[in-house]
Amino acid sequence: MEQYIIKGGSPLVGEVEIGGAKNAALGILAASVMTTEPVIIENLPDVRDTAVLIQAMESIGTVVERLDRHTVRVNAANISDFTIDDGYIKKIRASYYMLGSLLGRFKTAEVALPGGCNIGSRPIDQHLKGFRALGAKVEVSRGMISAKSENLSGSHIYMDVVTVGATINIMLAATLATGKTIIENAAKEPHVVDVANFLNSMGASIKGAGTDVIRIKGVERLHGTTYSIIPDQIEAGTFMFAAAITKGDVMIKNVIPKHLESISAKLIEIGCEIEEFDDCLRVAAPRRLSNTHVKTLPYPGFPTDMQPQIATTLALSEGTSIVTESIFENRFKYVGELQRMGANIKVEGNTAIIEGVDSFTGASISAPDLRAGAALVLAALVADGISVIDDIKYIERGYEDFPEKLTALGAFIEKVETERDIQKFKLKVG
Ligand code: EPZ
Repeated sequence: MEQYIIKGGSPLVGEVEIGGAKNAALGILAASVMTTEPVIIENLPDVRDTAVLIQAMESIGTVVERLDRHTVRVNAANISDFTIDDGYIKKIRASYYMLGSLLGRFKTAEVALPGGCNIGSRPIDQHLKGFRALGAKVEVSRGMISAKSENLSGSHIYMDVVTVGATINIMLAATLATGKTIIENAAKEPHVVDVANFLNSMGASIKGAGTDVIRIKGVERLHGTTYSIIPDQIEAGTFMFAAAITKGDVMIKNVIPKHLESISAKLIEIGCEIEEFDDCLRVAAPRRLSNTHVKTLPYPGFPTDMQPQIATTLALSEGTSIVTESIFENRFKYVGELQRMGANIKVEGNTAIIEGVDSFTGASISAPDLRAGAALVLAALVADGISVIDDIKYIERGYEDFPEKLTALGAFIEKVETERDIQKFKLKVG
């Protein structure tokens, strides 16, 4: 089984290039099947989640040609099937965006019901509420969601919770509905805006994305486009915290600083130096960091996808910190792994009370989910000694070339498969 092996103790120094946003790419890939004309998508991250969604698209007749590692040409002229089966949904939940795009274009779609996952139950009631408001008949049976409608008509939809997925899914279907749709209490994440901008580049009429009221005027059809995906806010934030926790000095390139404001604010609060430029920013941590309190919130609040990374950093900061997870009900599963490295964290409900310790020791640990896995890599980068991380398939869902990018910054990390690989690494790093 593939693992990461890491020898801690080297401050990260140098430059890293951030890739395209995974969570924008998934909505944009799904939206690309809403036209019969070719669509070129650039700055596509080469990660497991996008690869699986492309397979799901191909399974119903979409032709996806890879022009280079980060560019695809999508041709959905000959889609012959409207059912995305269990296999794909089990691998990535965001396959459910195909519900919105197929319902929008073909007025019919069937997608396997996504289960919960490692961070929570993750219901999809708001997605279904939106499709029904647009006039679709939605049924859930035999583990499948089917949505059908003679013709979708615009509606005024009030979201009961701020939800990225439902906001994007409803926006997809409403784009080709008849008449106007208003989504109130919409999610404002950068990737919601990127999907809206992509759809508008195809001829959609969407206004207000990035605010909590999105107005969509249905159009007859969408045309082809060439579009470049925004940089990944969470990959950037992960490297910002990697620089902080290792007391390094890293220039993080190809970012939109505006998208990182809540992350930069917290890093400054705990003692980091941040320098912002047009499309990059520098993070330096010259001394031991101090404590803070943080609560995860919908954008522009501190992102839940950065919660494991800040908690891990605070576990080595001076003093007591409190981290409150307000979005998902089960997103502290990594704390047990950190405790095995010497962290002093107590989880009570959706709050972690963190007493900063002086150091971690290396250990054998497992990644419980994507962002927690990335946080455990950060912990291993600064731990005394060697750590081995299992279940790295979670991490590879959302981070392209993670070991290579860290190695280029001075980290000692390798992907290994056998005991022999581990011994060779240990000999090499001494
Ligand atoms: C997206 O998940 C992201 N995934 C998640 O990133 C991210 O953590 C999350 O947004 C929040 O920012 C993708 O974009 C592919 P939500 P999503 O719907 O859309 C509740 C990562 O690491 N809810 O915004 O599933 C839900 O239970 C992943 O890249 C309902 O109650 O998240 C949660 O408490 C992990 N009913 C809250 O809303 C619904 O119908 C926010 O969920 C939908 C959601």
